[in-house]
Amino acid sequence: MTGTNLLSVADLGPDGIAEVLRLADRFVEVSSRPIPKVPALRGKTVASVFFEDSTRTRLSFETAARRLSADVLTFSAGSSSLNKGESLRDTVGTLEAMGVDALVVRHRSSGVPWQVARWARRAAVVNGGDGWHEHPTQALLDCYTVGVERRARGLRPGLSGLRVGIVGDVRHSRVARSDVLAFGALGAEVTLVAPPTLLPPSLDGWGVAVSHDLDSLLGELDVVYLLRLQRERMTEALLPSLREYTAEYGLTRRRAARLAPDTLVMHPGPVNRGVEVDSDVVDASVITHQVANGVAVRMAVLFWLLGAGSAAGAPPGPHEAADPAAVALPGGGSDDARALA
Ligand code: NCD
Repeated sequence: MTGTNLLSVADLGPDGIAEVLRLADRFVEVSSRPIPKVPALRGKTVASVFFEDSTRTRLSFETAARRLSADVLTFSAGSSSLNKGESLRDTVGTLEAMGVDALVVRHRSSGVPWQVARWARRAAVVNGGDGWHEHPTQALLDCYTVGVERRARGLRPGLSGLRVGIVGDVRHSRVARSDVLAFGALGAEVTLVAPPTLLPPSLDGWGVAVSHDLDSLLGELDVVYLLRLQRERMTEALLPSLREYTAEYGLTRRRAARLAPDTLVMHPGPVNRGVEVDSDVVDASVITHQVANGVAVRMAVLFWLLGAGSAAGAPPGPHEAADPAAVALPGGGSDDARALA
C-alpha cells in the first residue's frame, strides 16, 4: 500500500496482505449479523468510479461501504459528462469537490488508477481493476477464501507451499497478475496452465512454473483457479475454437473427478459455464464463497484506508489500524471496537 491508496498487491507485501486478511475475519463476523452494519465509516463517502462493465466488483465495494455506514456515490462513465468532453482529471476534481474520501476506480486502460492517485488531493484511491494489469482486491479475497475454505476442511489454512494452478487466459487477465503476486507473496507455488497463445509474451520475474498440460497436474493441485476467456480483449484469433479450448483446458466433470477431494475450484467470475468450467463443477466450487468473502475483504480495505487510525482518520497510520486488537469487536473496549460495534 503506497500511503493511502491500494493500487497493486505489490504495494502490500506479505505483512500488509496478512493484516488485511486478519481485518477481513472481523468483517465476516459483522456480515453474519442479523443487521450487518457497523458505524465505522459514518461520515465518509466512497465513490465507485467505473469506466468498464462490472457486476460483482462494483456491487461488492458498494455493499462493503454501506455495511461500514459510509455514503456511496456511483459514477457511471456511460451516463456522465465524459460524454460532453469532460476530462478524467476534471471528473476526479469534481468528485473530490463533493467531499469524496475514497475513489474505487476501474478502467479498461492499465495504469489509470495510478494516474487518478496522482491527481487526487485527499481521496484514497483503490484499484478496482485496470486493463490487463491488476485487480488487487480480487487477489486478496482469493487468498482469504483459500485460507477459510481450507480451515473449514480441517486443513492448514496458510498458503505457504500450496500448489495453485491458474488455468486459462492469463494473457488478458488482471486477476492472474494480482493473484500471482498475492499467492506468491504468501508462499504458494503457482503454475500457469494455458496454451502458449494465452500466456503473456514474457514471464520474466513472475516466479511461476508454466504447463500446457492440465491433465498431468490435476491430482497435484490444492487450488485450481480458472480464468474467464476474455474474448472482449482478444483482437486476434488466439484459439482454434471454444470447443478445442474446453477439450484441453476446461475443468470438465471428468477432470474434476480426478482432483483430490480437498482441492478448491475457484473462478473470479463472470463464468462462461461449459467453456472454462462445466456447469455442475461450478455448483460444487467455492465461487459463491469468493463473492461473499469479497464484501468482507473490501470492508477491510476501506476500513484500513479510511477508518479510525488510518491516514485519512486520526494518526497512527494504516498499518496500526490493521492491528487486530485495534478492531476488536464489542467488549474490546477501544474506540475502534466501538466504531465496529
Ligand atoms: C474479473 C475482472 O473484471 O477482472 N472479474 C471480477 O472482477 N470478478 C475477471 C473477468 O472479467 O474475467
